[in-house]
Amino acid sequence: MPALVTCQRPIEPHTRRVHVLITAGPTREPLDPVRFLTNRSSGKMGYALAQAFIHAGHSVLLISGPTALDVPERVDFIPVETAAEMHAAVAHCLARMDIAVFAAAVADYTPARVAPHKIKKAGATLTLELVRTPDILGAARSGFGFSGTLVGFAAETEHLEANARAKLVGKHCDLIIANDVSTAGCGFDSDTNEVLLVYPDHNEALPAASKLALAHRLVTAIVALHERPGN
Ligand code: CTP
Repeated sequence: MPALVTCQRPIEPHTRRVHVLITAGPTREPLDPVRFLTNRSSGKMGYALAQAFIHAGHSVLLISGPTALDVPERVDFIPVETAAEMHAAVAHCLARMDIAVFAAAVADYTPARVAPHKIKKAGATLTLELVRTPDILGAARSGFGFSGTLVGFAAETEHLEANARAKLVGKHCDLIIANDVSTAGCGFDSDTNEVLLVYPDHNEALPAASKLALAHRLVTAIVALHERPGN
């Protein structure tokens, strides 16, 4: 597993500081020494959430695939590349967390084999065999035994609420933050986002905002969810 880069945390007069794990960014699935499969995630939403949780006085461990972003100050950071590496890092750290927010755009499939040498072009077509990656969020409850507040994202292009609700139930989450990535100014690689919060018993639409402004609202909502009576 990659090394943990530990940063100094501020001492703030916070009543209930919580430990938050955030996954962010894309994953890179190697094909050969010079190529990989990935997606359009910039990591901006996950990094903005990390910054907003720190701003609210909490402690954050950010597990991120490759991005062009600077790690926010005072955030503990584990860089990863592949879905398998992200899975291993989450498995290692999740038990000591109070809240986990899965904002990463994890590749759903990875090449069945990584060629040891650069794949040379030959025929007119090339067929790749891909195999499923582990569903990291899906493993949080049943695989890793996580009992804290569990928040996932849903990137959708149709049936936003229905698809997000299916993920809420299927992955045993307390909240799914859903966004329609086919809307202009929304989701992947955008500086703004507009989301639908999908809870077990209701929904709440948050208007379009910068990812940092939205992150502050999301932190308030997630911490309130964590502190609800009976938790
Ligand atoms: N996720 C994960 N591990 C995966 C795939 C997804 O942890 N292998 C998490 C994402 O970080 C996100 C949530 O699951 O919080 C939903 O991700 P999304 O890509 O929207 O959905 P999938 O579960 O991959 O399903 P599909 O691609 O079929 O919509």
